Amino acid sequence: MSADAAKRAAGRRAAELVSDGMTVGLGTGTTVAHTIIALGERALDITCVATSHATEQLATQVGLRLVAPDEVESLDIAVDGADEVDSELNLTKGGGGALMREKIVASLTERFVVVADDSKLVGRLGDFGTPIELMPFAPRTVARAIERLGAREVLLREGPSDNGNLLADARFGTIEDPAALSAALDAVPGLAGHGIFLGSMVERVLVDGPGGARTITAASRS
Ligand code: 5RP
Repeated sequence: MSADAAKRAAGRRAAELVSDGMTVGLGTGTTVAHTIIALGERALDITCVATSHATEQLATQVGLRLVAPDEVESLDIAVDGADEVDSELNLTKGGGGALMREKIVASLTERFVVVADDSKLVGRLGDFGTPIELMPFAPRTVARAIERLGAREVLLREGPSDNGNLLADARFGTIEDPAALSAALDAVPGLAGHGIFLGSMVERVLVDGPGGARTITAASRS
């Protein structure tokens, strides 16, 4: 099974968790795009919140009804992809640059479902790098603060985020304690958001790959 086929299988499996009347958070990326397309095909009566301009565009194309996040108090479910998933279901996210909106939307639900091909499963976070969103006011100052937390380098990406901020990737190497690093990054002035999502946010991870379909929860993780 190719990575693309695995993404499609995992993404479409998540759409089966959605039923009429639900409010649904829609993540960003090539895996959750399959969820969005499958939701459109099912023509359910659902109300969705998108995590990026790209997802807004796709959801609109397939006929899903979108509202702004402030129009809902909570979401019945949110589905999103990930760049890394560790054995405690901690995630690296933000490869597609949507990390801040993704974290806000994930915080609106008790059922945050992650979809991934099995290449995303890692022992420890870190190889991918840690996506960062930072205020354009003083990017070098923010980058230096991130380096003081242990990043070997902080590489700025081209172009703005959907929020008009800057995006960067911080290289920490293997992250031994994602919760501690997440808290330290949260405390950096001018750092608007980062791509470490703690496992406590995640209800389940739907993974597909050559080994077949798996559902990983906090209870079932190996
Ligand atoms: C975007 C993300 C994506 O969910 C993550 O990059 C995974 O993307 P893909 O499903 O295309 O592999 O966090 O900001």
